[in-house]
Amino acid sequence: MEIRVTGEDADSYEEVMLIYQAALRQMETKLAVLNEEFRMVHKYNPIEHITSRIKSGESIAKKIRKDGRELTVENIVRYINDVAGIRVICSFTSDIYRIADAIAKQSDVKVLKVKDFIMNPKPNGYRSYHMIVAIPIFLSNKVTDTKVEIQIRTIAMDFWASLEHKIYYKFEGNAPEHIREELKICSEITSTLDRRMHELNEEVKHISSPDGYVDYMYTDVNMVKDEYYGTLAEDSEKQIVDEQKPNDSQWKEI
Ligand code: GTP
Ligand code: MG
Repeated sequence: MEIRVTGEDADSYEEVMLIYQAALRQMETKLAVLNEEFRMVHKYNPIEHITSRIKSGESIAKKIRKDGRELTVENIVRYINDVAGIRVICSFTSDIYRIADAIAKQSDVKVLKVKDFIMNPKPNGYRSYHMIVAIPIFLSNKVTDTKVEIQIRTIAMDFWASLEHKIYYKFEGNAPEHIREELKICSEITSTLDRRMHELNEEVKHISSPDGYVDYMYTDVNMVKDEYYGTLAEDSEKQIVDEQKPNDSQWKEI
């Protein structure tokens, strides 16, 4: 469904969505480069795979209205952090922090918000590392800082989240108690699995290359949690990008 915005806003909505598409592409490239670099240096891929999506007009409208705001392009840009979303699936928890750290350190990336649901899982058992970042998108005559939501998780966390998402929708958020309890237990099992797989991998790595790099345990990483680092400039501009390729890898909206 197409989003309905009136008057002048109708054109700028399209423009803004093109810019988000560009931001998504740029962030995907950054992640691919980090993965390639690591493969070259350590003969190992920290990223298992990446999916991305642009939030649908329908979901954007729903979210804006749920928050009691008027559906305008300005409100979308200001209040919706996940118009452009990337999900990065890693093998090991240590890879999550490595990727997050490498992205955060880049001089053109502004980290606006971090939520560490690995150190602090949600009450339902959800685990994942979330970042809201802004990257500059260069157009012919201006630069626009554009927000991208990055969710970084292990394969096990992703497996859990997919099932939880399905269950959540099936029961419209009111799953029976025993199912919610079972999900919680499964989350703890995936957490244990992630830790043990990490330890196993470290041990094997050490045997095959005693002088090789040692991965920090994720529990030792002192990352800032649930904190706002800053906000986008209120007047960040929106402009047309001439040609954009549609993004084909998608994930389901929640
Ligand atoms: P929205 O959930 O997008 O409105 O934003 P928020 O500000 O609450 O952000 P949060 O970081 O909590 O969640 C952002 C996204 O993470 C969601 O849109 C989902 O894709 C994912 N997510 C968060 N919580 C859960 C959860 O309990 N289960 C699953 N399956 N996914 C979740
Ligand atoms: Mg979302």
